[in-house]
Amino acid sequence: MRALLRTLQAALALFGATAAHADPLAESLGEGVVRWWADAASRDAAPVSVMLAEPRAGRPLERGGAIVPRFLLQGGGRIVRLDVPRGTTLHGTGEVGGPLVRNGRQVTCWNTDAYAYGATSASLYQSHPWVLGVRPDGTAFGVLADTPERLTIDLTRGIEFRAQGAPFPVIVIDEATPLEVLATLADLTGHMPLPPRWALGFQQCRYSYAPAAEVERIAREFRARALPCDVLWMDIDYMDRRKPFTFDPRGFANPAALADTLRSRGFRSVWILDPGIKQEPGDLVYEQGNAGGHWVKMADGTPYTGRVWPGTCVFPDFTRRATREWWGALTARFAERAGADGIWNDMNEPAVFDVEGKTMPITAKHEADAELGGTGFHARYHNLYGQQMARATFEGLRAARPEKRPFVLSRANALGGQRYAAAWTGDNRANDEHLHMTLAMALNLGLSGQPFSGPDIGGYAGPCTGDDYLRWLGLGALLPFARAHTETGNIRKEPWSFGPQVEALARRALETRYRLLPYLYTCFEEASRTGAPIARPAFFADLARTELRNVEHEFLIGADVAARLAWAEPMPDSPSLVADRGRWPRVTVVPGGESELLPTLHVRAGAIVPLGPVLQYSDEKPLDEVELLVAPDAEGHAEGVLYEDAGDGYGYQRGEYRRWTFTAVTGADKQVRVSVQSVGTWAPPAGRTWRVTLAGAPKGATGEVTP
Ligand code: GLC
Repeated sequence: MRALLRTLQAALALFGATAAHADPLAESLGEGVVRWWADAASRDAAPVSVMLAEPRAGRPLERGGAIVPRFLLQGGGRIVRLDVPRGTTLHGTGEVGGPLVRNGRQVTCWNTDAYAYGATSASLYQSHPWVLGVRPDGTAFGVLADTPERLTIDLTRGIEFRAQGAPFPVIVIDEATPLEVLATLADLTGHMPLPPRWALGFQQCRYSYAPAAEVERIAREFRARALPCDVLWMDIDYMDRRKPFTFDPRGFANPAALADTLRSRGFRSVWILDPGIKQEPGDLVYEQGNAGGHWVKMADGTPYTGRVWPGTCVFPDFTRRATREWWGALTARFAERAGADGIWNDMNEPAVFDVEGKTMPITAKHEADAELGGTGFHARYHNLYGQQMARATFEGLRAARPEKRPFVLSRANALGGQRYAAAWTGDNRANDEHLHMTLAMALNLGLSGQPFSGPDIGGYAGPCTGDDYLRWLGLGALLPFARAHTETGNIRKEPWSFGPQVEALARRALETRYRLLPYLYTCFEEASRTGAPIARPAFFADLARTELRNVEHEFLIGADVAARLAWAEPMPDSPSLVADRGRWPRVTVVPGGESELLPTLHVRAGAIVPLGPVLQYSDEKPLDEVELLVAPDAEGHAEGVLYEDAGDGYGYQRGEYRRWTFTAVTGADKQVRVSVQSVGTWAPPAGRTWRVTLAGAPKGATGEVTP
């Protein structure tokens, strides 16, 4: 009977008709997690999973899940459909332009060099075949199409995945809340490692600051103007004729001296490395790659070549362990020579100039590790190329500097790649559309397993006004990854480039980030442990208020701080979380000039938010004075957490951290008393003082800390 059914399906499929698999197969991957296959034959024929951090054996399913996908064959294509309960909002789908609510949208997971993309571009730089659904009652589910291949996510009618190629399962996670779904997603696909604390500081980039003297000038300006900044970025003009692993012999003759100068002023540096290696006989990296058989090949066995920044290039096959180790070691040696604190992987979709599809052909061949699926076509490995490059970089740095946490930024990536690299949203445009979708993009990445992301603040392509720069910076300085960047030939976009008034407000935006740093680091630690996003949609604070689902002018940082962008409010009196000032009292953490262009900050009533002083860079001095911003709830209670450790290294994994928990109660005398407890062995700075500031407390209330 089954055989007959299958023959019938195959015959129908041949004619382009749709045939449904009658008997999908379900396996349990743990409480609330079900993996569905079209049928047993599909399971047996499917290649290994690369979306999951580790292979997961399914167990027989005891209770069927509430969400049952339907598997269909149409033409040569595979379709999976899932019904979505009425009123459910859909989110995630990775790095996507456009709104926070994805219902009605379509995207195609196919990593693409999408210069100056727009809200409806089908494919950007990263692939996350993942949808998060939040039902009207606030319960949530997630659906993961477990394939790296080209796949369309169509949310115009429920959820539909469409792909050609090998059979794949879908994994359905069904939980009580979105945070629990995201925790399970992180357990399945991997956790973001805790970054070094300096990577949470503000970062300044341009294509390019060159020569080295110009980098030093930028560093001096930041310090002279007291504009906080942790990191300066080196784009491709530091290279000799744009060849990765080289230095321009004129402009960057002495990178070690540059590193010393930067370090002496409290700056770190991140340097770009692209995958394309110039096909230039005699070139060291090129010859090593030839000898090691490291290049992606064409069907005839010769290396694939394509044109990128340096000219005609060959491309490392990062799906091979030997190639990753070679690249990792090259990167680590380069980082030593450059004095680089972090590495920026770009153009790794991989981008190729002047060819159809802007990448290598799907018939190119990878000699992938068995764990990734073994030798196969670029069609399978395309979306993993950037992820495996980031992995090579991360692992190379980790091996060479075991006492340092690697910091890697990657343009291309795929679900699971949060284990190796942070994300930025690529070559955005300095226009209104992008300004407005910046927040939704970061939020949806956070709802897709990537907590560490941010935009090119100020806009990559095209000029912007001082006001727009401030809108971008005000928002960007509150997002997990805060880096300003712009393209070559563009106007200057440093914080001082738009005159003294803009500069003063820019300083305020940056100082706000540094005041929040202790809290932000606490959120990062939580994200690395639990998969919780750092920047969260406003609706996370009140899942039952469905009118908050598409709020994009307010958002949460962790659970306790909200930000409101007055300029982004669609209409006066749009649905709002923080309009309820009783529940979200407004706070000012940096006094001085107000501006509608900068976000307002709000603290959740019932929360205690740890703040630090304004710093010029994150480790300018130890946190010797902590300010506890206490917002008592209606009963006068509040609670909060501060996580601290050395800020780098791995001592924290051996207990060398401190997690403080604060509890506040208000007495009849209106005195708010905060008690402090802690676990962990990390020692805070000697003589640290604690101080209380109250937010939204009754008139006349005072606060004190009782250690
Ligand atoms: C790509 C990157 C951009 C970078 C440029 C030059 O367009 O997305 O950020 O500045 O290449 O390296």
